[in-house]
Amino acid sequence: MTSTQDAKVQTGEVVLEAVGLTKHFPVRRKLRQFFTREQNAVHAVDDVNLTLRRGQVVALVGESGSGKSTVARLLAQLYPRTDGDIRLHGESTRVKGGGAFRAYAARVQMIFQDPFASLNPVHTIRYHLTRSLKIHHNAGKTDEDLEIALRDLLTRVSLTPPERYLDKFPHELSGGQRQRVAIARALGAQPEALLADEPVSMLDVSIRLGVLNLLRDLKERLNLAILYITHDIASARYFADETLVMYAGRMVEGGDSETVTQSPAHPYTRLLIDSAPDPDRLAGDVNPLDEDRGNGEPPSLIRPPSGCRFHPRCPAAMARCETDLPVRLEIGDKPGHWAACWLYDEATVKEAAK
Ligand SMILES: Nc1ncnc2c1ncn2[C@@H]1O[C@H](COP(=O)(O)OP(=O)(O)OP(=O)(O)O)[C@@H](O)[C@H]1O
Ligand SMILES: [Mg+2]
Repeated sequence: MTSTQDAKVQTGEVVLEAVGLTKHFPVRRKLRQFFTREQNAVHAVDDVNLTLRRGQVVALVGESGSGKSTVARLLAQLYPRTDGDIRLHGESTRVKGGGAFRAYAARVQMIFQDPFASLNPVHTIRYHLTRSLKIHHNAGKTDEDLEIALRDLLTRVSLTPPERYLDKFPHELSGGQRQRVAIARALGAQPEALLADEPVSMLDVSIRLGVLNLLRDLKERLNLAILYITHDIASARYFADETLVMYAGRMVEGGDSETVTQSPAHPYTRLLIDSAPDPDRLAGDVNPLDEDRGNGEPPSLIRPPSGCRFHPRCPAAMARCETDLPVRLEIGDKPGHWAACWLYDEATVKEAAK
């Protein structure tokens, strides 16, 4: 990583945008459907908009199956999308060809949940990092340049002294060290954006903070744009500047992390926060999950509920929620805080109260 790369960047500049991003996975037709021409699909991601900026972390939170990894894989262009666009520095990725994907892949790197599965057990750390540097033409001209670049990568992820790690195999390292190698490998591409899909959820609780702090440090030093995917909304508050909440393939709330986690607006976000383990909650207190009318079951994504997808579980659902898809509505006095929920539409609430 060169110092010019460190210096040229400007905080807040938009790096990557998803616009109306949609992914439907086709599912196998049943015999009857061959005759009716009906095509079922898993509506994994629908109309997702998000913006990643330099020097900022955006957290994407939601329960299992809500579509978080699909968003990350779409952004990494590992899947073709059904609809919508991804823009890198404002430029649509719809235009293909001429090595465009390789250039894109260097700028947008993914970090996966399981660092053991993402590193090849038969190769050393040196091999993994050299490969990343060479693929992205960052290895320099001489063996000496390569050696310096390798040491630089390991130093950046605090695996020091680097010579202690370079010739080890993945199984000789701890989970946290392996994830640091996976991060170093991503940095070998000199990316502008990192898509981190639950990067610490498979690590021991005791070392999670260290890896998150490393990512935060890299964000600041290299001015990276980071998408941080997590189940754990509490870590989003700690680590992310902005938090987006996803439910059943759709974004339901967004805003700065402090506001979303401390004054959640959408009933789903409230449920997510209240159902997280809280040592301060007394045994006799009402468990918010008791108010979950759907018994905590996420809906089918093959036939998602009409209107608001959360309405079958929502303790505050009104008639309109069953039929009309909620639009993004601004909340209160915090700029940028929004929820896709009819509770914030005065006319709807008045009508429901009649
Ligand atoms: N390749 C695929 N083919 C068909 N359906 C898929 C595929 N990948 C994901 N899905 C479905 O899309 C939905 C969203 O999955 P996704 O993995 O994005 O959720 P997630 O929020 O990352 O969940 P988790 O927190 O468990 O990782 C799920 O219903 C899943 O079963
Ligand atoms: Mg996932």
